[in-house]
Amino acid sequence: MTDPQLVLAERVQQALAAAFGPEHAGADPLIRPSQFADYQANVALSLGKRLRRPPREVAQAIADALDPGDVFGAVEVSGPGFLNITLNDEWIAAAAGAALADPRSGVGLATPPQTVIVDYSAPNAAKEMHVGHLRTTIVGDSLVRLMEHLGNRVVRQNHLGDWGTPFGMLIEHLLDIGEARALARLEAGEGSEYYQEARAKFDADPAFKERSRRRVATLQSEEPETIRLWRLFMDATIRYFNRVYSTLGVTLTDSDIAGESMYNPMLAETCADLESSGVAVLSEGALCVFPPGFTGSDDRPLPLIIRKSDGGYGYATTDMAAIRYRVRDVKADRILYVVGADQSLHFQMIFAAARQAGWLTDEVSAEHIQIGMMLGSDGRRFRTRSGEAVKLTDLLDEAVERASAAIAERGYDEATRAEIAHSVGIGAVKYADLSVGHDSEYVFDFDRMLSFTGNTGPYMQYATARIRSIFRKGGIDPAEATGPIRLDEAAERELALKLLSFGTVVEHAAAGAEPHRVCAYLFETASAFTTFYEKCPVLRADVDAGTRASRLALCALTLRVLQTGLHLLGVPVPDRM
Ligand code: ARG
Repeated sequence: MTDPQLVLAERVQQALAAAFGPEHAGADPLIRPSQFADYQANVALSLGKRLRRPPREVAQAIADALDPGDVFGAVEVSGPGFLNITLNDEWIAAAAGAALADPRSGVGLATPPQTVIVDYSAPNAAKEMHVGHLRTTIVGDSLVRLMEHLGNRVVRQNHLGDWGTPFGMLIEHLLDIGEARALARLEAGEGSEYYQEARAKFDADPAFKERSRRRVATLQSEEPETIRLWRLFMDATIRYFNRVYSTLGVTLTDSDIAGESMYNPMLAETCADLESSGVAVLSEGALCVFPPGFTGSDDRPLPLIIRKSDGGYGYATTDMAAIRYRVRDVKADRILYVVGADQSLHFQMIFAAARQAGWLTDEVSAEHIQIGMMLGSDGRRFRTRSGEAVKLTDLLDEAVERASAAIAERGYDEATRAEIAHSVGIGAVKYADLSVGHDSEYVFDFDRMLSFTGNTGPYMQYATARIRSIFRKGGIDPAEATGPIRLDEAAERELALKLLSFGTVVEHAAAGAEPHRVCAYLFETASAFTTFYEKCPVLRADVDAGTRASRLALCALTLRVLQTGLHLLGVPVPDRM
């Protein structure tokens, strides 16, 4: 174990058991980074309350029972009952050496591993894949990577909007303009224009409207020719989605598609189950669940409509079928719905109804990972100048072009420049998305996200490139920099200590489904490295061999932590910049 927070937690728990009895061994010792020492343990405050004893006295009793071993020296009781703990330099140095020798860099594994479903991306085929789905895609993919890195079984579910009444007019429009042309346009990402054309005809032309209505009926009854046309439409659209995924370096594949249509065969049974168990009742002809605690503006119970009065199913029906399937058939321990914050009420009601039905139990955690809206510089929903939704491929192309311009003066040949520009441009967009809390709105700003300073993708990529260039200059392979690590300078100690908390950060980011914690940590680590690099020359001729070996080892561990962290975010790492 190399992570001080885990090591200290274990020691404090042993002290708790020794001082207050074994029943306290499981208490959370509340280890936090401290301003006055390396870490502090805050458990004496809550324990004092529980035992009705002064917290300072409790803290002193813990301090007296603590076995510091070779980990730390004297422990100090401060304030209302904090325990301040300063680690021994030798221990930090040895732990950093052990983290370097550990291929996982001190990141543990989930015990036991869980089955985690991540429902993310989920664009709607009847419309263009727009910026609204950019964040759900990027945040979801980072969550997938985090959960997998901890050894969990992850099941990706791309809940595509691939069903519903709009498909009637979309299929009729496909017949009007001709299969080949329609499919080429959909594949090229013109879904939005295509939809608008169909919509305009639907509103203006009664005959088209009638055809579309009939087409909805044959689609629902799964008439083979209609299904064939729908399949063509979907396949072309998915080819476009896949192009965006591949540009973004997102891990979704066709086998992760679990669109709304997949649940069609389960909808009738889902409703029947809810009705027979009495969880759903008929109200004005519609089948509804009234989960307790949800009321409308008129104080009347709010319905979750699972079958409309005309017999049709909707978005909520599909999500009820999906949650049942995910718990019962996929056997999920945890389900993350990475979806816009504006659907908060929908998911609260789905979870409540599923709990009422007994489908969602206390053993399973269903969480709506709310994604805040992306705003334009005017503080409103992000749109083009003419007020339309921004096309994703255009946005990503622009990011890469701007990145290419930013590195124009660095003298790379064309192919290298294109490669770096791709990593920097896409990395900048992804990092900007991930570095703020997923539920906060954020302003999409190319200049800021492409800046080479601050908590940005390019800065983080640059930090890794700089470390690589140290190794290149020294003619050394990072894998051969094995130390031993010594900590003579404060900047070395600071950097080593930061590197040792990588495991805790990854664990907390996964537990809270918060990739921005990883970003914040990587930024702090890169900053600690910058200070170290300013104060502690590595390759200079006057540096003795032992110091040089130690500093190279610190560089190697920093490089690996930054690379692993960026990989968990899904941000590409170019070799040079
Ligand atoms: N397609 C939906 C939308 O764009 C998101 C689906 C999210 N997942 C779910 N299980 N409802 O709003």
